[in-house]
Order: sequence, then C-alpha cells, then structure tokens
Amino acid sequence: MSGRLAGRTAVVTGAAGGIGQAFARRLADEGAAVAILDLADAADVVHGIEEAGGKAIALTCDLTDPTAVGAARDEVTERLGTAQILVNNAGVYPHQAFDSLTFEDWRRVFSLNTDALFHTCQAFLPGMRAGGWGRIVNVTSNSVALVVPGVTHYVASKMAAIGFTRALATEVAGDGVTVNALAPGLVRTATTEAGPDTAFQAVADMQAIKRTEVPEDLTGALTFLVSDDAAFITAQTLTADGGLVRS
Ligand SMILES: NC(=O)c1ccc[n+]([C@@H]2O[C@H](COP(=O)([O-])OP(=O)(O)OC[C@H]3O[C@@H](n4cnc5c(N)ncnc54)[C@H](O)[C@@H]3O)[C@@H](O)[C@H]2O)c1
Repeated sequence: MSGRLAGRTAVVTGAAGGIGQAFARRLADEGAAVAILDLADAADVVHGIEEAGGKAIALTCDLTDPTAVGAARDEVTERLGTAQILVNNAGVYPHQAFDSLTFEDWRRVFSLNTDALFHTCQAFLPGMRAGGWGRIVNVTSNSVALVVPGVTHYVASKMAAIGFTRALATEVAGDGVTVNALAPGLVRTATTEAGPDTAFQAVADMQAIKRTEVPEDLTGALTFLVSDDAAFITAQTLTADGGLVRS
C-alpha cells in the first residue's frame, strides 16, 4: 500500500476497539502493516483493514505479562518484519475514591498503564535501534492536568508514563528513535459510554471546541508523531482534547 508509512511495521496495543482501533485503521491507511496486541479479539478490525486494502494481524496478548509480550514480538517479527512504530494505547481507567482503593486496585491500573510500557519497549526497542529508526507513542491523558476526584491511581499511572516517555526519549534519541506521549480528552468509546457518570456534554461545554471527542480526532496527531515529519520532536506530550487544557 502507498502512503507516508509505506514499508513500516506498526504495533498498536489495545486496538480491538475504542481509540486503538481507529489508530490501527489510520496507520494501515497510511501504508503501515499493523499488528494489534490485545486481550480481546480484534478480528473485526483486521477484517476492516484488509477490506480497505491494508495489511494487519491480531495477536492475543496480555500486555502485563512480559513473556507474552516477548512471544508477541517474535510473532510480529516473523509475520510482518521488525516493528519500527509502537503505539502503547491499551489502558484502563476505573474511577474509585482513594479511601476505598486497595493496593491490588492500584497495582491493576499500574500493571497495564505503566508496567506494560516497560514490557513493550523492552521487547520492541532493540529492533528499532538496530534499524536506526523508530517511533514510540504512549497514550496518556489530559486528566493529568485537569484532575477530577476518584482517579488517583489512574493519574499517577499516566504521569509515570509521561515521565517514562521523557526519560526514554533521552536515552534512545541517538539511534533515530523518538518517544512521545499523546493525551486525549474525554473520548466517546464503548468503555466511556458504559460509564455511569460520563458527562460528555458537560466536558464538551468546557472545551474550546464544543463537541464530544471521537477516536478519529486523535488519528491525525498520531500519524504526525510517527511520521518522518516529526523527526525532531521527542520527549513531548501532545494534548488533543479540543482545547480543554489550555497550556
Ligand atoms: N476514552 C477516553 O475518554 C480516554 C481519555 C483519555 C485517555 N484515554 C486513554 O486512551 C487509551 C485507550 O482508551 P479507550 O477508551 O479506547 O479504551 P478501551 O477500553 O476502549 O480499550 C482498551 C483496550 O485495551 C485492552 N486491554 C485491557 N487490558 C489489557 C491487557 N492486560 N492486555 C492487552 N490488552 C488489554 C482491552 O481489551 C481494550 O481493547 C487508554 O490508555 C486510556 O487511558 C482514553
């Protein structure tokens, strides 16, 4: 497939639905061969990409398990070649007041939102560095700047992901690898729609752009960050939230 990512192999985590499926579809539209790593079945997303003329595979993978991530890396390499783009999108965002939070609740959030970034980067970075080109994008959240009650574990895990982004970017820049974060606002997905108290309209009213964000609002920013156009941009967090956070 032609496009500005033609010849690239991209891994997108948590792309069976929600924001991740839009990322996978867009990267495939731009010409990348896409591997989806998710616990859930992503066959529909792969099918949609193939129908549009793109190339994709879906691997069942628990991203909190380093052995499973290593096995997924081996399979991606065998079937699509060395991955040069890694989009760490999978995440959980339960709401729970701090005084009812157990350490297990805390660890569950960190194990995916933060620890899994360690596992995927450990697995996929060596191939990028060896090839002298790589793009890592960690999906964080605008909630780190606009905190509401009930998300101490979530915000802490996403702030850790931002710190990880900055520090890792510093270590790998010499090998042609950039590491950035992409921070959505409140995005309409099956998960947020199922939330009992998701206040789409109230949030939209606070944004500069007064409509509810959808996954496709993030795909242009992602494509830019993983393209050659963003070669001199690293260690940054790009917030795409309709101007809710004005920094
Ligand atoms: N939706 C929003 O409003 C919003 C806002 C800010 C940030 N974000 C961030 O964007 C990302 C995607 O959000 P979303 O709303 O699309 O989420 P989602 O719930 O729709 O999708 C998350 C995906 O991650 C997968 N997953 C969960 N645990 C996994 C595991 N252990 N191993 C592998 N896959 C696993 C799920 O199967 C699912 O497909 C998350 O990192 C989230 O924190 C979302």
